[in-house]
Amino acid sequence: MRVLVVGSGAREHAILLALAQDPGVTALACAPGNAGTASVAEQRGIDVLDPAAVTALAGEWRADLVVIGPEVPLVAGVADAVRAAGIPCFGPGADAARIEGSKAFAKDVMAAAGVATAGCEIVDNPAHLDAALDRFTAPYVVKDDGLAAGKGVVVTSDRDLARAHAMTLLDGGHPVLLEAFLDGPEASLFCLVDGEVVVPLLPAQDFKRVGDDDTGPNTGGMGAYAPLPWASPDLADELVEAVVAPVAREMVARGTPFTGLLYAGLALTSQGPSVIEFNCRFGDPETQAVLALLRTPLAGLLHATATGGLADVAPLEWAEGAAVTVVVAAEGYPGTPRLGDPITGADADGVLHAGTRRRDDGAVVSSGGRVLSVVGTGADLAAARDDAYRRLEGVHLAGSHHRTDIALRAVRGEIGVPTAD
Ligand code: AMP
Ligand code: GLY
Repeated sequence: MRVLVVGSGAREHAILLALAQDPGVTALACAPGNAGTASVAEQRGIDVLDPAAVTALAGEWRADLVVIGPEVPLVAGVADAVRAAGIPCFGPGADAARIEGSKAFAKDVMAAAGVATAGCEIVDNPAHLDAALDRFTAPYVVKDDGLAAGKGVVVTSDRDLARAHAMTLLDGGHPVLLEAFLDGPEASLFCLVDGEVVVPLLPAQDFKRVGDDDTGPNTGGMGAYAPLPWASPDLADELVEAVVAPVAREMVARGTPFTGLLYAGLALTSQGPSVIEFNCRFGDPETQAVLALLRTPLAGLLHATATGGLADVAPLEWAEGAAVTVVVAAEGYPGTPRLGDPITGADADGVLHAGTRRRDDGAVVSSGGRVLSVVGTGADLAAARDDAYRRLEGVHLAGSHHRTDIALRAVRGEIGVPTAD
């Protein structure tokens, strides 16, 4: 099987490494890729937001399967175009990708499906903002109703800060979503979905804030681990039943069935699981941890999902133990990152590339905010954490920063689902 992966992050590097282990895979290509994906796949520098360009590449390269990593091409209809050309594609069409592309659409689907999510209100007129804020209590949750790469959300107890963020979004022409605050630990559940068929992967947790102890602004994700030692072993099945399957059925009922990876971001509150967001693709950086543990060959799984065979796949096989990934970010991230700095140690095992490129002189240099994702595995979460941070010591990038507490509270047994009184 010849597989073309679209994207250029550490998520795509992890997907490619997992595909490379599948004995059914004969060739891999990546568009546009980075310095790390270049060591596993042919690189093709095309505009991945152009449905015609991706379809032309898939045809010319004779892809048997196209896997689309990021949300932006999915929302732009790239999967529709590839499928229309008769090429199997892992990823939803534009209609179904709206579950991520529009938070208002996602809320509407959840309401129809009877799935719990934070109460919310959409504000599109600055004149209505203050009255709307008055209908919420601190902490305030202020979101951009559109794609914002995880960075459009401000959670704050400071009403002035919440108001200022909302005004910035409104001034930029973006409707604002105000949401009730959800307490309880977060979990990310990735599910392979084809119509009403839902197969969950291992639950994971990611770390959105830039600083240790969840301080500083939200980012695209600074680290992750899987599975969740503090959760019930039945968590994935429970979440499928309560959340993902009803949403998958609702999408079918609307005539826009979802196919690909449906990612539920949840808070496990005292009142039960409540959805924070849906994404229409693998999450980054959770994928780097989850796929490190997957033993079922990935290409077969994604191909089955893309071609109506998901109901027939055997139960997934997982390695024992745990995986932890720690993101190395460039100086300045999540603001404007400093680019072009040489990186050493980036070719080591367990070092996945995101914002990297190879210069003409062969040096690997930073080319994005999130630069690397270092992955460790071990017999338990503590061992996986040690492994990740040991590998990270071998990596050097001037000015870079990373969190030192990924998975730490879970290792210490400090995370639990609050119980109802
Ligand atoms: P989102 O882009 O919607 O995933 O939000 C990014 C992050 O903001 C989430 O991972 C949470 O940490 C936080 N967040 C978003 N919505 C809420 C909420 N309603 N209550 C508490 N935290 C939230
Ligand atoms: N891990 C967060 C995201 O992929 O959106």
